[in-house]
Amino acid sequence: MGQPRFEIYINVHKGLRYLFGQILYQAGRIDYSSDTDLDNLAVQLDELTTYLEDHADNEKECVLKPLEQRAPDAVKRDLEMHVQIEEEKKKFVALFSEVRKQTNKEECLNAGLVFYRGLAEFVSIYLPHMLEEEKDTMGALWKHFNDGELVEMFQSILKNTRPETLMMMLKYMLPALNRYERAGLFAGMRASAPEPAFQAVMTLAKGLLSAEEFEQVESALKVA
Ligand SMILES: [Fe+2]
Repeated sequence: MGQPRFEIYINVHKGLRYLFGQILYQAGRIDYSSDTDLDNLAVQLDELTTYLEDHADNEKECVLKPLEQRAPDAVKRDLEMHVQIEEEKKKFVALFSEVRKQTNKEECLNAGLVFYRGLAEFVSIYLPHMLEEEKDTMGALWKHFNDGELVEMFQSILKNTRPETLMMMLKYMLPALNRYERAGLFAGMRASAPEPAFQAVMTLAKGLLSAEEFEQVESALKVA
């Protein structure tokens, strides 16, 4: 087996799959007639839509644009899917607004179930899209770009992401990665991020990970 190639999608997609799981779980169990429950779900929905929008923008600007220059056919499917996904996203956001407009308990519960199914439908469309990107688009990227160029692409994604959005995305990515992927992510950030930003991510990780997992990060950084 040769050296593994640089993966551009896996970290961000693992975080998104974790967020999908969490939000579907919450959306299935909350009381849709409770304002507190709805407010809490609204916060996580807001994070989901921000994550989705930022990720789509990064893929378009930092990955698909350079790929299109070298292999125009390789980007067509993803660009079409991104348009469809944007439409599907508007549907579940609208269904959540419908829940908030209801005035009695029975209507809230009914609208809540319609929203829950809309969210589940969105996830069922998005999951195969991520697999296509990880298999087909990643394959095209490996064919047309070397690993140094792919790392540059990844750095341009980091630059293109607002710091507060990156911290929110990392909240879902860090627990979702295995220890080796996490170590790679931290090594990359230490090499490229300003020291205060790197320290902020270390603090975030300390709060999110178990003591053992955080020690693994620290010892990997010492070796790197
Ligand atoms: Fe993606």
